[in-house]
Amino acid sequence: QSLRIGLIPADGIGREVIPAAKEAIIALGSDIPKPEFVDLIAGWECFTRTGVALPEETVDALKNDCDCALFGSVSSPSRRVVGYSSPIVALRKEMDLYANIRPVMSVYPSQKPSIDLIVVRENTECLYVKQETQQQGEHGREARATRLITERASRRIGQMAFELAHARPRKHLTIIHKSNVLSVTDGLFRETVRGVPLLPEVNGKYNDVEIAEQLVDSAVYRLFREPEVFDVMVAPNLYGDILSDAAAALVGSLGLIPSVNAGDNFVMGEPVHGSAPDIAGKGIANPLASIRSAALMLRRLGYIKGADRLDLAVDQVIREGEILTPDLHGKSTTQEVLAAVLKNL
Ligand code: NAI
Ligand code: MG
Repeated sequence: QSLRIGLIPADGIGREVIPAAKEAIIALGSDIPKPEFVDLIAGWECFTRTGVALPEETVDALKNDCDCALFGSVSSPSRRVVGYSSPIVALRKEMDLYANIRPVMSVYPSQKPSIDLIVVRENTECLYVKQETQQQGEHGREARATRLITERASRRIGQMAFELAHARPRKHLTIIHKSNVLSVTDGLFRETVRGVPLLPEVNGKYNDVEIAEQLVDSAVYRLFREPEVFDVMVAPNLYGDILSDAAAALVGSLGLIPSVNAGDNFVMGEPVHGSAPDIAGKGIANPLASIRSAALMLRRLGYIKGADRLDLAVDQVIREGEILTPDLHGKSTTQEVLAAVLKNL
């Protein structure tokens, strides 16, 4: 039996950190089924070379030939480029990866405030349906965007969030919304997520989860004032995007923060950071976010021992503080940090 892992390094430092994650996975040996890697392309460089940012062959290979995948980072241009749209947004839709799960933890166990939370972000709808229009109004141009919230998407992200909260020691879930203003859309999200524990198929499983609610603006405020109150947070797409970046800022370098895009049938690990053009090609990108993303991916697939070993090996490198990349005020290279992780493994 083997584990087929699609590798999509994409652009910039993605090409430096995804190969590092691959080495770390290989070093797990018999703790996981024999890994087989499938090299796939996507991204801005792919677009400039082939005219498409997400080739059909990449999607087909993921659907038919892979058990899971690791995605690096894309260099999306800020200006509008005809024919280009972000491959990661498209992949989440194509593969129905409806949840973006982002654990954020204090870098050092002694760090204050101590942060140990997970943001569970709905990944498919809200304002990201990208239905925008503009027209001439009485007082100048008017632009509108559609914000879609469905019961189905809210229920399945709610189920994902309750499952994660149920499995954690604190068993606490905060529902993020703004239904004091957006009582129809956010109201539906809030009500549907609240209803998850009552679903017949759930059969009381989540009765041990304590439910809290917080309006999104005050949630950001609280996140900065007293982040230790949060355990699992579940939010519609846009709020989740903002909250998870805000939470990441509290613990230091982006080079440490992993995420996973998850659906019912597929899982794709992805470091939270972008392609970092300022350091790309210098060999100093921090590979730890990608290695942690590989751990998240393996954990969701049920390879707990392999995932734990990766996390412990990364934690040890951080704790020892000797071999770190410049983003963590160290002097080491990507390869040296990888070597330290491999030694711990
Ligand atoms: P970025 O995350 O690429 O970089 C922000 C800062 O953090 C830079 O100073 C960079 O050097 C540093 N950094 C990021 N990851 C690091 C790592 N592993 N090790 C050491 N330092 C690291 O964000 P930025 O600069 O806003 O975006 C650059 C490009 O990446 C843009 O084209 C953007 O569209 C794209 N991007 C792609 C994402 C994705 O693929 N999911 C997510 C965010 C941005
Ligand atoms: Mg973001």
